[in-house]
Amino acid sequence: MKKLVVVFLVLFSINTFSQKFEGLAETPPLGWNSWNTFATDINEELVKGIADKFIELGLKDAGYEYIVLDDGWMAKERDANGNLVADPIKFPSGMKALADYIHSKGLKFGIYNCAGSKTCGGYPGSRGFEYQDARLYASWDVDYLKYDWCNTEKLNAEGAYMTMRDALKKAGRPIVFSICEWGDNEPWKWAKDVGHSWRATGDIINCWDCEIGHGSWSSKGVWKIINLREDLRKFAGPGHWNDYDMMEVGNGMTDAEDRSHFAMWSMLASPLIMGNDLRTASKETIKTLANKEVIAVNQDKLGIQGFRYSNENNFEIWLKPLENDAWAMTFVNMSDATKRIDFDWMKHGFGDDLNGKWVDLKQQKFNIRDLYNHKNIGDTASNLKAEIGSHDVLMLKLVKK
Ligand code: GLA
Repeated sequence: MKKLVVVFLVLFSINTFSQKFEGLAETPPLGWNSWNTFATDINEELVKGIADKFIELGLKDAGYEYIVLDDGWMAKERDANGNLVADPIKFPSGMKALADYIHSKGLKFGIYNCAGSKTCGGYPGSRGFEYQDARLYASWDVDYLKYDWCNTEKLNAEGAYMTMRDALKKAGRPIVFSICEWGDNEPWKWAKDVGHSWRATGDIINCWDCEIGHGSWSSKGVWKIINLREDLRKFAGPGHWNDYDMMEVGNGMTDAEDRSHFAMWSMLASPLIMGNDLRTASKETIKTLANKEVIAVNQDKLGIQGFRYSNENNFEIWLKPLENDAWAMTFVNMSDATKRIDFDWMKHGFGDDLNGKWVDLKQQKFNIRDLYNHKNIGDTASNLKAEIGSHDVLMLKLVKK
């Protein structure tokens, strides 16, 4: 009997302390992160200003929730007790006050650190301090942790991320755990029970299809990322997402390219983390980012990542099964010129073997909704005719008749 009790207690404590927090990120996280625009040049006025803009620009209303401070928020050294300290010049009121401000707006607060001895920017990393750092974040009321992979030497990735997961669990505050290991150790194969999302690639850059080398790694434009990691869909689902990186919408691509980028991140069920300066964003940028109909595709409760249906004549066509037997369908014009489509539904059928969803379009008709123009545009009984500008997108929701 005694033995049984011991076995039960051991099992109970393993179960209590070594699982990630469940029930978080049931749909992909929506938010903003400081890195793509500001790198380490961040401070509390900027972050509070961003929180204000979430409200003013209708972004909170559209569903955005997390405001995440990336690298550069810390002082260069831990204090005498080994605690991380907020940079006193950039964040004179400290992290708890900033969290309080963000929470007072009904938003959530995210922070960054790294599994290695130092962060990528050279600030103190969490290696050897995981439990202490997790307790500190919990005491600051942090809601989201992005956890990077610089200066990790020979650390085992799965083990290092499990240690931080366990530390967060032990600290007791539900914190979304965003793994940022760049896909080097194929986290999609092991991270489902470790984190709530995992970066699929190295860093994004604000271009349509370029790649810029930095020696041992390269930053990738929107289509380089998609093409490199389009095969990961079977690993994604509620509570565990492929993260295609923070978005570059509003950071220098054309408005059409931004629309396509946003549509594709939604089709891929990636976290939608804005990476632009919301204080100076154009109307068109906000119109794209706050498009509730597109966001709804990303946030669909089934949590099925979309897939490439075809890639012919410079058109990418992507599909994503949605609730109630609906589908999202996205046409992207990859060419440098405006192109017309004349899509004969009768010649096509949809199939998602992975989720057992098939549609014979001769039998089943759908009403068509244009998600960027917010218009119903007929049904699948007749050909879909449209003109799509260069690098622009036609994003549809097909609703069963
Ligand atoms: C890595 C990450 C980026 C960013 C920087 C910060 O490159 O992939 O997203 O967090 O570190 O230094």
